[in-house]
Amino acid sequence: MFTTLPASRIKSDAFRAKTMSAADAAALIPSSAAIGMSGFTGSGYPKAVPQALAARIEGEHAAGRPFKVKVWTGASTGPELDGALARADGIEFRLPYNSDPIARERINKGQMQYFDMHLSQVAPMAWQGFLGKLDWAVIEISGITPEGALIPSSSVGNNKTWLDIADHIILEVNSWQSEAFEGMHDIYYGTALPPHRVPIPLIRPDDRIGQPTFRVDPAKVVAVVETGIPDRNAPFSPPDAKARAIAGHILDFLGHEVAMGRLPRQLLPLQSGVGNVANAVMSGLMEGPFEQMTAFTEVIQDGMLEMLAAGKLATVSATALSLSPEVAHRFNDELERYKGKLILRPQEISNHPELIRRLGCIAMNGLIEADLYGNVNSTHVMGSRIQNGIGGSGDFARNAYLSIFMTPSTAKGGAISAIVPMVAHTDHIAQDVQVIVTEQGLADLRGLSPKARARTIIERCAHPDFRPLLQDYFDRALRGSYGLHAPNILGEALSWHQRFVETGSMKP
Ligand code: COA
Repeated sequence: MFTTLPASRIKSDAFRAKTMSAADAAALIPSSAAIGMSGFTGSGYPKAVPQALAARIEGEHAAGRPFKVKVWTGASTGPELDGALARADGIEFRLPYNSDPIARERINKGQMQYFDMHLSQVAPMAWQGFLGKLDWAVIEISGITPEGALIPSSSVGNNKTWLDIADHIILEVNSWQSEAFEGMHDIYYGTALPPHRVPIPLIRPDDRIGQPTFRVDPAKVVAVVETGIPDRNAPFSPPDAKARAIAGHILDFLGHEVAMGRLPRQLLPLQSGVGNVANAVMSGLMEGPFEQMTAFTEVIQDGMLEMLAAGKLATVSATALSLSPEVAHRFNDELERYKGKLILRPQEISNHPELIRRLGCIAMNGLIEADLYGNVNSTHVMGSRIQNGIGGSGDFARNAYLSIFMTPSTAKGGAISAIVPMVAHTDHIAQDVQVIVTEQGLADLRGLSPKARARTIIERCAHPDFRPLLQDYFDRALRGSYGLHAPNILGEALSWHQRFVETGSMKP
């Protein structure tokens, strides 16, 4: 949906002189270019230039000329970026996170190279030159000040880094984004590479340590494109019985931790992962007894915004909004009321391991499967098919005060158990996984030896359809394993996955 674009968003004459159409801007980008795009979830990603580039790539392919680009972003983006470029078969290489279904298909067919990585590490690795050279940056912003500073939009991600290191820059000024965004961002320029690193002066989630705008070298800006296209995140489904049960177990657990004196009454800064279950947990907290909570997290989904509006959450620090379309439109109209309560930062700060450890975050993330010993697979279905990527889950899980993983106990209509003898891929080792929750119950694994963990996970988390099978496996492993510290029958451990691949069910 394009609307008429008010020129007033570009308040610098020098930048206004560089305005052109998305097609003209896309025509400047050569094949094989590495492009740093803005975007973190379906928020703040460029929408016009990637679509124009995809159209151009389709034309080149139709004429028999190969044309692909390398795409770096903050995290996932929307259909106008990943979807359009993947449909045109225009992406040669992608990092650091994808959740687009068309791109996922190409990756899993071996047609697109993909490097998923810890989101906190993307910017430092780019500065270090570990990822190669960045040729172009295409960045969505919500305005340009008279002095030529860039006002960010609904996500910050790696924009600061792409603007600093790319040779050529295209700016998309999106007038759909609220003008009230000005002042809500905190762009910290104090990060450096070793041996020059200094402590990051952030003590509380709501501290401001940077500036509200991005700086940019105007000489690198080759095009400014005006758009009015809305952000596009998938809508959330209302919490189902399983999600509500998971949320209920987590609330009981947090209440217990407060009663035991292990958590303060307002809890500790919350981090909440992506997806419906994470959103449902936020809705559960909305009804719960905790007041004046804070969040130091990666994305703000609907549930968190609702808590902020209701005053249950005092402040939120994140790198992106990730709101359903309905809530995003409402948020745009009401943005002023969140000023002072909501801060968006670069992802090297929102996901910074040292800050997460020092603030003592409570991390809550989704998983694909967990094994009897508490190792977690968040990314690879049946060990080989990428779902999304590790995203920020590793940044938070390893460093959190409390690291919670949650999932329904079965997938694919009950054909798959989320609790398996051995995970087919490991993203989070048992030492980084303190609590596992399914709709069946909650397993507190802190301080438990591997065998005690296995007994607890089978009893508390496994679905009744799979519990006897897991118990039988564990009992036999106790008799026939090479070592009895973390017993396993190696030849059988992954046979559940193989059975699913061959028959469509993990059940024998
Ligand atoms: N085996 C096979 N498929 C499984 C599965 C399992 N054990 N568990 C889930 N899935 C499939 C689901 O069937 C669903 O597939 P579909 O889209 O074809 O229907 C898909 O994975 C998503 O599962 P869903 O139950 O909808 O969960 P979710 O939206 O809560 O997402 C993760 C769960 C693990 C995929 C998601 O949390 C993720 O990508 N995590 C890694 C990144 C992360 O944690 N980011 C946040 C850090 S801040």
